[in-house]
Amino acid sequence: MTLELKPHLEDFQVYRPDIVVLPSNNLVDEYAFSRVEEKILKNPYSVLTLATGSSPLGLYNLMIQAFQRRNLDMQGLTTRNLDEYWPLPKGHPKSYDRFMRDNLFNHINIPESQRYIPNSAVEDPEKEISRYQSVLKQTGPADLAILGIGPELTCHIAFNERGSTPDSRTRLVQIDPETIKANARFFDGDENLVPHQAITQGIADILESKEIILIAKGKGKAQGIQRVLEGPINSDSPASFLRLHPNVIFILDEEAGRLLEKPIQCL
Ligand code: GLP
Repeated sequence: MTLELKPHLEDFQVYRPDIVVLPSNNLVDEYAFSRVEEKILKNPYSVLTLATGSSPLGLYNLMIQAFQRRNLDMQGLTTRNLDEYWPLPKGHPKSYDRFMRDNLFNHINIPESQRYIPNSAVEDPEKEISRYQSVLKQTGPADLAILGIGPELTCHIAFNERGSTPDSRTRLVQIDPETIKANARFFDGDENLVPHQAITQGIADILESKEIILIAKGKGKAQGIQRVLEGPINSDSPASFLRLHPNVIFILDEEAGRLLEKPIQCL
């Protein structure tokens, strides 16, 4: 079912996000990192919303390098991850908790007590959802959210798949079959091993961030990016709801940005 934004249109103002298209993967990472570093230097106690997936990996590497080589201090930061598979045993090698430890947290100095992610191993997801909603409330709106975008035309952010509404909050969701197919690459290529459900921050939780960066790379993202930025704002394209936020930047490589028609800013 497609939920058109129309009935609620008067409740929202629509903005044009900043779009930066860069000629290489590395430049995308460097530009994203420069925005994150600026935020950390300005406020070492910033609250960050963090994504998993391959898109933010280069950014996370640069954060690790900045900590290890230049002592960029991150001990004041608070992080709240966007989502986590459910169910998966604690410490499962493909859990997002493990991903974040392996690719960022184990190499920098944000204390564990300031890092939040939904628990993939709970028996009662509803209880975990309430806990996570309280975490989001207590830690306040994020100063900066880092997002990727789902594969092909799923246009998902976090695990807000097609059908998600702009007022959605942290909840248990069914993962789109297209996403399961794409994410099977992290599960030895076997779709049957990918959990079919996840706990995800909702669109409304994400839109509460003061600033949002979306990173997209590669030709597999081009159609989705075009749809999100130039198509209708609706639940068929959950990332299109980012156009309801006044402070969003899309950082794209040339492949991901190649179908955009309107004049775009290239650094
Ligand atoms: C997963 C995550 C999303 C992420 C997406 C894109 O499905 N739930 O938060 O944005 O993957 O992944 P990638 O960056 O690997 O393309």
